[in-house]
Amino acid sequence: MQKSIYDFIKICAEELVVSEPIYEFGSLQVMGKPEENLRPLFPRKVYVGADMRAGPGVDIELNLHAIELPDNTAGSIICADTLEHVEYPRKAVKEMFRVLKPGGVLIMTSLFKFPIHDYPNDFWRFTPEGFKSLMEDFVGVEVFSYGRLEHSPQCVVTVGYKGVGGSTTTFNARCGKWSDWNTSVLRELHRRMQEAERVVGEGERVKEDGSASGKRLSTMSESRMDWIDDMSVRCDDVKLSLVQGLKVFPSTEDEIVLFKDPKFVDHYLNTLEGFRADNVIEVGVWDGGSAIFFWNLLKPDRLSCVELKKSVPPLEAYISRREVTDSFRLHTSTDQSDKQSLGKIVVDDFGGNPLDLIIDDASHLYGPSKATFEALFPHLRPGGLFILEDWKAGLIFPKLSKDGEDLGPPLHRLVHEILQLSLLEHRVVASIKCVHNFVVIERGHQALNPEEFKVPEHPEMV
Ligand SMILES: C[S@@+](CC[C@H](N)C(=O)[O-])C[C@H]1O[C@@H](n2cnc3c(N)ncnc32)[C@H](O)[C@@H]1O
Repeated sequence: MQKSIYDFIKICAEELVVSEPIYEFGSLQVMGKPEENLRPLFPRKVYVGADMRAGPGVDIELNLHAIELPDNTAGSIICADTLEHVEYPRKAVKEMFRVLKPGGVLIMTSLFKFPIHDYPNDFWRFTPEGFKSLMEDFVGVEVFSYGRLEHSPQCVVTVGYKGVGGSTTTFNARCGKWSDWNTSVLRELHRRMQEAERVVGEGERVKEDGSASGKRLSTMSESRMDWIDDMSVRCDDVKLSLVQGLKVFPSTEDEIVLFKDPKFVDHYLNTLEGFRADNVIEVGVWDGGSAIFFWNLLKPDRLSCVELKKSVPPLEAYISRREVTDSFRLHTSTDQSDKQSLGKIVVDDFGGNPLDLIIDDASHLYGPSKATFEALFPHLRPGGLFILEDWKAGLIFPKLSKDGEDLGPPLHRLVHEILQLSLLEHRVVASIKCVHNFVVIERGHQALNPEEFKVPEHPEMV
């Protein structure tokens, strides 16, 4: 279930009279994720989960085409993102009307702009007008939708009452805000994606040395990227699923975790808007979601990824399916502290050419991160960016490892040291900017010897 739908049902729970017993039709928690469970929104109320299939979240097996319940049984009914899977939706809505008690509310939602999926069949998409028509027997019907385009909403939601009832002005106002907010998020994210596509698609961009970047165009034409909803983005044949906090789920070849929340991604889109990045290194890839995201967003000539794990199967599968093993490289079993290996990657993968962008989302530990910074920052072109993610990690994570080993100073100490360096040597560090959870360090124009480059310590920092 999309977060926006959960938020809508939360508004219903807080603003409407939702009488007992509450029946939820289509209650099977198909993904097995906690946010699919709507029960916590209705504490202490009698709640019956009903579905045509048994499983998590289901108390009783009932088919919406012929609900085996007497008339006037349910105090209220929820039917969330289910009707598109019901072969005869008008029959189903009439059945829900029948079993609802007089004065009871039906809360119903469905997706409009969403890829065809199963659970177990996907039959329909409903417009706001379609929902109004299906709700013909109800009174006080309200329909809301949101989406980046008015004529192509993401989701459509409705409430309606049996015989008597109506929604309050506060409910309508909150739903209006819900719709505006979700619309603006989607519209903005989409605009930035389009902009990134346009910048690249305008034609061959000329590199600083005057040579054209030919590989870029073939890469560009192969890739597609679009937001599915506010928590997932499609990159070619893969769905990247964003995470809130540290709640991660296992990736598959088709659905890969992008270990960032929407705000984080939003800040990345802002930071990298119009930024030219042909040669990119990412350190710390988890399952590869972020690497695929950068690959599609930036369309680099070469992206090399460094990862401590022995293998990253979802990313390896993505790279080999595309036959881009030459330009999209993965170096597993490689520790970010290993300066020698990092230097070798610059030589082997980039022929020693300057890098445009380096992203460090690996250990979030002071020592290893500093080693990566010292090894790679000298290889950036003037104006190139080194992005250090999750720099507040030292404030959140324990100071000792599971084995009791001291993990050293916090990562923000490195940020203070780089800040000090920029103060003393602005031709080395041209600027440093803290954005949300990451720090963007811009390379100055002074030549640096990677063998000797050191960030001076700042011993007083804790
Ligand atoms: C936060 S996850 C990366 C998330 C990923 N960038 C994303 O946004 O989806 C950190 C990754 O860094 C790797 N890592 C941790 N310590 C490392 C080290 N010393 N060298 C290289 N990689 C390391 C971990 O194995 C893990 O895959």
